[in-house]
Amino acid sequence: MSILFEPLRLGDLQLANRIVMAPMTRSRAGSDALPGVEMVEYYRQRASAGLIVAEGTAPSASGLGYCRTPAIYSGEQIAAWRKVTDAVHERGGCIVLQLMHVGRAASRHNKPQGAPTVAPSALRAQTRLFTDAAGMVDTDTPQALTLDDVHRVIDEYRQAALNAREAGFDGVELHCTSGYLPMQFMASGSNQREDAYGGSVENRVRFVKEVLEAMAVAIGAGRVGYRQCPGNPYNDIEDADPAATAVALCTAVAPLQLAYLHIMRSPVAGLDAFALARQHSNSALILNDGFDGDSARVALEAGEGAAVSFARHYIANPDLVERLQRGAPLASFDRHTLYTPGARGYSDYPAYQADSLEVTP
Ligand SMILES: Cc1cc2nc3c(=O)[nH]c(=O)nc-3n(C[C@H](O)[C@H](O)[C@H](O)COP(=O)(O)O)c2cc1C
Repeated sequence: MSILFEPLRLGDLQLANRIVMAPMTRSRAGSDALPGVEMVEYYRQRASAGLIVAEGTAPSASGLGYCRTPAIYSGEQIAAWRKVTDAVHERGGCIVLQLMHVGRAASRHNKPQGAPTVAPSALRAQTRLFTDAAGMVDTDTPQALTLDDVHRVIDEYRQAALNAREAGFDGVELHCTSGYLPMQFMASGSNQREDAYGGSVENRVRFVKEVLEAMAVAIGAGRVGYRQCPGNPYNDIEDADPAATAVALCTAVAPLQLAYLHIMRSPVAGLDAFALARQHSNSALILNDGFDGDSARVALEAGEGAAVSFARHYIANPDLVERLQRGAPLASFDRHTLYTPGARGYSDYPAYQADSLEVTP
């Protein structure tokens, strides 16, 4: 049997296999950032993954910024997420919630009225994003967080981790890449603070360390993971030394003994993110980016990590685990429906049937 199908323990999380569904924003949340029935069905269909990392979800109103993304700060949102976690658990699955505060990568059109766009420094991300209200727009110019604000945001993450547990999630994953708030603190280009959260690399990783620490104290370190992609330039991120930043983060959080590090390949030439993580992190590694069944098996057999996550293959293959087990062909997805509302191109991809015409080799 392939190593992919062997069970695995990550901290307090028990995985039935080493195939992880990577987090994917799919813009299907309803009004008030609520997960709806289609999201329940979508995650239910994918419950045979050893672990589902549910899509980036805002810990606060200010943490929202993209179109139709979910949140977990209100009682209503907790109750709505409970339906998702119940559906996954009924099928024997394990599911954590990715906490994503977008910081300056936001438009006020995608936030509840009055919720501010915030960042470590008042520097606008030079990108545009989609809004239902006004189409493509520039990102907002953020307000720089005061020291009190920084402590409040850390507390919002802590509360969001507790809310996630109340909603039935087995744990949480902190989104520390793709140019969102944690990465805005860590990267030298977006952080011009002169207090304890800016300047030296140790200071720039402090915010992320304190968020992880607060969440670990609240729900247990064995239920907290974090995601990194050293040098990811997405959302206008510039960092003078991405490898040093990644090492500093791994080193700062090592004493916390977190459940896992979800590590993506780095786009920086010569920077081997998996090797860096093996050398500097004491957490179990979930490897990501560009894997298929064969390359995932080879990586795990070589001891590169404990598990492998798949994002795009999970879009059109709800039964990815069973397909890999049977050596069945993988279906390809329609990119036009990645972020459109409704079930189409979301929860209507069928499980594999040998005679299905929907499946492309
Ligand atoms: C539609 C889509 C949405 C994504 N949303 C998120 C997200 O919310 N959080 C995150 O950390 N990564 C997100 N990603 C990145 C994926 O988790 C993953 O890192 C990337 O697709 C590479 O893995 P793959 O080669 O298996 O697709 C997204 C990717 C796609 C295709």
